[in-house]
Formats: sequence, C-alpha cells, structure tokens
Amino acid sequence: MKNIKLHISRNIEELVPYPPGRPIEEVERELGVRPIKLASNENPLGPSPRAVEAIRGALSGLNRYPDGSCFYLRKRLSERLGLPEEAVVFGNGSNEIIELLVRSFVKDGDEVVMAEPSFAVYPLVVKAQGGVAVRVPLDRELRISLEEMARAVTERTRLVFIANPNNPTGTIVRDDELTTFLDGLPEGVVVCLDEAYYEYVEDERFPRSLEYVKEGRAVIVLRTFSKIYGLAGLRIGYGVGHPRIVDYLNRVRQPFNVNSLAQVASLAALEDREHMERSRENNKMGLEYLYREIERLGHSFVRTEANFFLIRVGDGDGFYRRLLEKGVIVRPMKGFGLGEYIRVTVGTEEENIRFMEAFREVTEEYKEREGSHP
Ligand SMILES: Cc1ncc(COP(=O)(O)O)c(C=O)c1O
Repeated sequence: MKNIKLHISRNIEELVPYPPGRPIEEVERELGVRPIKLASNENPLGPSPRAVEAIRGALSGLNRYPDGSCFYLRKRLSERLGLPEEAVVFGNGSNEIIELLVRSFVKDGDEVVMAEPSFAVYPLVVKAQGGVAVRVPLDRELRISLEEMARAVTERTRLVFIANPNNPTGTIVRDDELTTFLDGLPEGVVVCLDEAYYEYVEDERFPRSLEYVKEGRAVIVLRTFSKIYGLAGLRIGYGVGHPRIVDYLNRVRQPFNVNSLAQVASLAALEDREHMERSRENNKMGLEYLYREIERLGHSFVRTEANFFLIRVGDGDGFYRRLLEKGVIVRPMKGFGLGEYIRVTVGTEEENIRFMEAFREVTEEYKEREGSHP
C-alpha cells in the first residue's frame, strides 16, 4: 500500500504490539488433535451458569445503550463491600481501569513503580502515555520485594502497581509488608493493588486491602469477573478506591465503557456461590495433584495463591514447543526473564491429567537426550 506520512511520538513508535494467541481452532487444525489451553489463567469450568441465564434474558435489549453508571452492580457491590458507591468504578476488564489510572495520573516523564516480572500490561500503558516504567526485580524466591519497591519511589513517582497475587509467579505480598510499605510512601503516590486472582487465595496473611480504602489511603483495589467468575470474554472488572481517585477515573472513562450483557451477567455471577465454590475447590484439588506429580518427576515449582503456577523445567521454550505439539498450550516465560520456567493454568481434572501425561513424556525425552550426551 502507498506509504503515508504520520506524526508519531517516540513513546508510541517504540511500543511492541502484544502478541495475540492463535485461535484454538487453528491450533487444532494444524495438530489434528483438540488442544487444551492452560495458558491464560481462565476458569476451566466455564462461566457461571447464572450469568449465562441472565445474558439470555437481556439479549432483546441490545438495541439500547448500556447503563453508563452500572447502577445495579454498583449498588450491589457497594453494599457487599461496605464502601460508598462513589468508591466503585467499572471497566472494560480491569485492564481498562489500569489504563484509566495511568491516563489520569501520569504525564511525560512521570514514573510508575512496578515489579519485574509482573503483569505485562502495566509497562505497556505507562510507555504509551509517555511515562517511565520503573521495574523492580523480584527477590530470590520470586516474590515482590516491597522494600526494593519503596527504594525505587522518587519525587516523580505518581503510581505504584502491585499485582497480588503476582502474575506470572502466583506469589503474594503479606498484610504486614504492605502496611509498612504504604505507611512509608510520600503523599501524592497512588497505589493500585491488582487482585485479579483474589478469590483463589488461601493464605491467611493476605492483606485485607479494602481496609486500606476504608482508612482513606490513596489506594485502589482492582478485581475482575474474568477469572473465578469465568466471564473473561465479556470484559468487566472493577476498582474500589478512595472516592477522589475514582472521581478522576470516571471523568476520563468513556460513558458506555461496560456493555449491558457484562453488567447483567456479573450481577448474576456475584450471587452464584455454588459456581464460585466449585471453581475454588477445582483449583485446590488440581494444584495438589499437579504439585505431587511434578515433584515426583524431580522438577521444582513455585507455590501459588492463584489459578496458575510456574514450573522450573530448564529449557522453558523447548518444553513449551514440545507440549504444544502434543496439544497442550502453556505459557513460556522467556519474555518475562524467566527462561527456565513455564507457566501453567490449573485445568479441569481431565485437563490436568492430560497435561501431566504430556509433561511426563517431554520430561522423559529431555532425560534421554541428556543421557546420550554425558
Ligand atoms: C494481574 C492481572 N491483572 C489484571 C488482569 C486483567 O484482567 P481483565 O480480564 O479484568 O482485564 C489479569 C489477566 O490476566 C492479570 O493477570
């Protein structure tokens, strides 16, 4: 096509597009087997059935624009969380709220502190906005080091992102660590506690993050309907934060950013205790099984508080490719600076068994290869 002249800023020029995964049907056509996808931390049990029912009931209203305030959902969540309605904001996935935060609080040269590796979207949106992503390495146990993050805060810091549990490690920061960190922050720094996997957490030392909001700190907690509620395809998440922070996000966001099916579905999913419990139980049992089998094969792994975990395989890319050939899609970690690891999402019982079969075969191949090269 004929070239065109564009005026583009350097920060946009330097961005690299997020590599999209191939549709599962394409992988199936190529391999000739139905692949299992354990790569995106989705709920393997499917969406909340109550949500699906609610969507069916709302289809005939699709000619109307959605309710721009998410009236019913806001009311329900505010009651449930014990915070005023002005403290709640909704987004097209929690991804959108991450973006709204950066657009509201970051301008040219402002700094945003985050762990490395952590959720890949944080540095992307910061760079697009012309900000500086200050990336703080994890500690030796692959946990976020809040002490190091505190040291990275400067006069230019406007935002801090803490994914808790962290993606891709599944590790958490504890309440005592987080309180110390927040107490030591200078005024004017907004802290985003991204709790996309909150509902899976078992560790009792996990922070009661909404208390920080109730205390009036400059904090916003992000949660999502994409993970345990099984509604990733609908795109809806929410933030609960200091009303002044939320006010700015509401000014910046598009008026109809959350679609009407997402609104009715998530309202119904909130009441679906059974789906939530089943999903939590499936994750717990799946992890116990996977930990046991992987240990038996002699690999180490990182204990998780989420629905995914890291396995140390040595050649992460090689393992990823061989597993893919066997119809098992996991996430290689080289791009996250963890080339020795793969990240695996917990599947259904059958998927976990299929994963372990393939994983065992690949492990054997590697052992044989090593044996033939003493
Ligand atoms: C840490 C973290 N935050 C946020 C998200 C995005 O969730 P959503 O689907 O609500 O945009 C993810 C999804 O993978 C995640 O891992």
